[in-house]
Amino acid sequence: MSTRAKIDDLLARSKKIELGGGQKAIDKQHQSGKFTARERIEKLLDPGTFTELDKFVAHRCVNFDMAGKEAPGEGVVTGYGTIDGRLVYVFAQDFTVLGGSLGEMHAAKICKVMDLAVKMGAPCIGLNDSGGARIQEAVDALSGYGQIFYRNTLASGVIPQISVIMGPCAGGAVYSPALTDFIFMVKNNSQMFITGPQVIKAVTGEEVSAEQLGGAITHNRTSGVAHFAAENEDDCFAQIKKLLSFLPSNNLEDAPIYDTGDDPGRMDESLNDIIPDNPNAAYDMVELIQKVVDNGEFFQTQPLYAPNILTGFARINGRVIGIIANQPKVMAGCLDINASDKAARFIRFCDAFNIPIVNFVDVPGFLPGTNQEYGGIIRHGAKMLYAYSEATVPKITIVTRKAYGGAYLAMCSRDLGADQVIAWPTAEIAVMGAEGAANIIFRKEIESAANPAEKRAEKIQEYRDRFATPYVAAERGFVDMVIEPKETRPRLANALEMLATKRESRPAKKHGNIPL
Ligand code: HXC
Repeated sequence: MSTRAKIDDLLARSKKIELGGGQKAIDKQHQSGKFTARERIEKLLDPGTFTELDKFVAHRCVNFDMAGKEAPGEGVVTGYGTIDGRLVYVFAQDFTVLGGSLGEMHAAKICKVMDLAVKMGAPCIGLNDSGGARIQEAVDALSGYGQIFYRNTLASGVIPQISVIMGPCAGGAVYSPALTDFIFMVKNNSQMFITGPQVIKAVTGEEVSAEQLGGAITHNRTSGVAHFAAENEDDCFAQIKKLLSFLPSNNLEDAPIYDTGDDPGRMDESLNDIIPDNPNAAYDMVELIQKVVDNGEFFQTQPLYAPNILTGFARINGRVIGIIANQPKVMAGCLDINASDKAARFIRFCDAFNIPIVNFVDVPGFLPGTNQEYGGIIRHGAKMLYAYSEATVPKITIVTRKAYGGAYLAMCSRDLGADQVIAWPTAEIAVMGAEGAANIIFRKEIESAANPAEKRAEKIQEYRDRFATPYVAAERGFVDMVIEPKETRPRLANALEMLATKRESRPAKKHGNIPL
């Protein structure tokens, strides 16, 4: 064969592989509102930066009709490129080829980019669109998944791992995403489940649609498996880019600092009026946070799940922070099982990736109830205590109003290692609310009074005046400063600047044993 013929042969082979499962399958993919694997990569990465690896990898399966069957690209497109000029590794399963199912060589392609991502210290993004283990490949396919899970675990805390669900993901296809840091789903076009609707119907008799069982809303709102729900694929890519802008490329780097143009000294007078006079009235913690952070930009993670606690990223003076905040608008901001899980995992992400943690506290306590106790709130709430105590990144706590009992501790009190604790004059730091406290410690005095109702009110007020303030905590040094709310942003900027060189180490050990 002449050199020219060899080059033409290369181009023809390449073109054939780029067509994946063929035009008909591509049309089907488009008709269902989905882009192809290659189109997705083009949209996600900076234009023209994608370098493909392993284009010619082929399967070795001879079971059933697989011996003569071609699977272009082995049903997955892999390689690297940049997003916002920063290196990322990517794999995109190609549903047009054998339903994006994962066989031995498909898995080997994914493992190769995961290994490169860890060596180079760059995020790894998986675009998942797969019918799960390739049934014809039997245990070889299972082994492929096992190798990916193993790598997901070793890479955890070393590089950010992001999973994007862009089609049906069943069986093994859901566990790799579950081991990664963030899961994006596309509404009405992506599902995750261990066993699908047909199996469920056969085993339990329950009837449920695929979307109800494992769609974006189910996993963002109910199960807490996913972190982001996009309207469509384009929206999804925009959200991934936004998330990456807050993250360092690996655990040895800091997140990029951007000039946001927002004056760190900016005060916001309206913060002085945000806490209602009535201690039981709600206000919106999102609004409060937006007034404090650069340009009001607060990028929430899991906004639909356990909305009684807020988690997400923002910047102060261009520096990235991770925010954990109680939301008085939902369940009065009580901590429950789901909120504890959501917060603890986020705290650990921030700690692993050198992102300072800022806590906004207005928490009346842990949610009472048999559901919570039987569900193991003790075990779940302990995750927050553990995660905060374990974290060595800068930790700043701002108490805006209530901080009672165990929940006060669980929201990163001084004793759990907060480096700076700031209180507003509206803060109430005590073992419990004034009503409950007065009813217990003054019970006999109230019951024996000529007018118990009047006595109760008097005692509640007495307790509130003494303890429902920040000053008892400030007298002991548990609170470093009590400030006017409007000063919060400059104070935070100052604290973050002061803590930028923080170094704290922990005793050497294999790993701790967080209550799971
Ligand atoms: C081999 C598969 C496949 C699979 C789909 N295909 N899933 N081939 N192994 N797991 C093939 C189909 O045969 C078909 O090939 C093509 O992909 C498109 O599939 P369709 O069924 O036509 O598409 P659609 O109607 O959109 O349905 C998609 C689907 C469905 C919901 C994903 O295909 C499905 O239920 N697949 C099986 C899911 C599953 O049970 N996977 C195994 C999980 S067990 P042709 O040639 O006809 O175009 C598992 C164990 C790992 O993963 C555990 C590790 C912990």
